[in-house]
Amino acid sequence: MKAWVITKYGGPEVLEMREVEKPKNSKGKLLIEVEYAVLNPYDYKIRNGIAKLMTGNKFPKILGGDFSGTIIESNDSNNEFKPGQSVYGFANIFMREQGSLAEFTTISPKYVRHLPDGIDSKHACAITSAGLTALNGIRKCGKLKDKKVLVNGATGGVGHIATQIFSANGSVVIAVCSSTNMKTAEELGAEKVIDYTKEDIYSGNDSYDIIFDAAAKLKFSKVKKLLNQKGIYCTTEEGVKVMLTSAISKLKFSKSMMISGFRGTKVEFDEMEDLMLHKGIKPIISYNFPFTEVNDAFKMLEENRPSGKVLIKVKN
Ligand SMILES: NC(=O)c1ccc[n+]([C@@H]2O[C@H](COP(=O)([O-])OP(=O)(O)OC[C@H]3O[C@@H](n4cnc5c(N)ncnc54)[C@H](OP(=O)(O)O)[C@@H]3O)[C@@H](O)[C@H]2O)c1
Repeated sequence: MKAWVITKYGGPEVLEMREVEKPKNSKGKLLIEVEYAVLNPYDYKIRNGIAKLMTGNKFPKILGGDFSGTIIESNDSNNEFKPGQSVYGFANIFMREQGSLAEFTTISPKYVRHLPDGIDSKHACAITSAGLTALNGIRKCGKLKDKKVLVNGATGGVGHIATQIFSANGSVVIAVCSSTNMKTAEELGAEKVIDYTKEDIYSGNDSYDIIFDAAAKLKFSKVKKLLNQKGIYCTTEEGVKVMLTSAISKLKFSKSMMISGFRGTKVEFDEMEDLMLHKGIKPIISYNFPFTEVNDAFKMLEENRPSGKVLIKVKN
């Protein structure tokens, strides 16, 4: 089968398309024919070696987390998945599963979902990691109706879903993005848009109930003054330092800090599908790349910061 592999960590140049052996299914796993994949920042962070403590030094590696496709063989012990079914989900490359930038992959059913009626395989694939990351943090922000919410990075992969979820739940959204994405932010439901290239967020006079930092560019110590009493700062940044700051902030019964990360629990997948089916939440697919141009798709995500998601059509 064809797959995009890396044989060392590095920039986009280390990615190469190769003919590799089709994976054999194993106990408890599903063999999936991949139809679509989308890119997320973790894909280039893994490729760069930033996550090598988790991903290890064994090469070649096939990258790619999010996918949609069809089950070819099922060794699922719960008998939930059967050959021929359409599915989408996340290949856990952090736990050294084979990634989705390949014609076939074998993965555990933990993050695999049946494709629901009413959601197509492109949009299911596009929402998985970014949407579930947004939702994970939003669920920690309490009631959303009539809350004044600042979304930082409001048109990126995580931010464009967060903006839609807050708006659909009755929050008043103030979006932060660069000049080129201001119109998109309005279309996603923002009532006001701030261009971060022209205005310094920290020196604004407005205050917010929630600051959702999808871009992970702000600092809790500096945004505190922009939060109302009991206001919440929620960031996609992960790591020991933010975990400690978040834990300490929760002891103080005033302004607190939450972390929004990909967890992919059943409850979150259920809620995300419900939001797509009944509240009109939909990922933007800003670019479609053929499977032969995955290296260009990486460059697009890393260099041009498009709004929404970059999709790759794996199956011809
Ligand atoms: N996607 C996931 O599954 C996932 C999971 C966990 C954590 N995360 C983390 O969440 C962060 C965002 O992920 P993503 O998928 O949304 O990335 P993305 O699609 O690359 O979007 C990043 C956004 O950040 C904005 N941005 C850049 N510099 C900014 C600044 N100084 N101030 C405000 N906004 C700025 C960009 O807006 P402009 O283009 O308008 O400049 C862009 O829309 C990353 O650090 C990622 O590692 C992502």
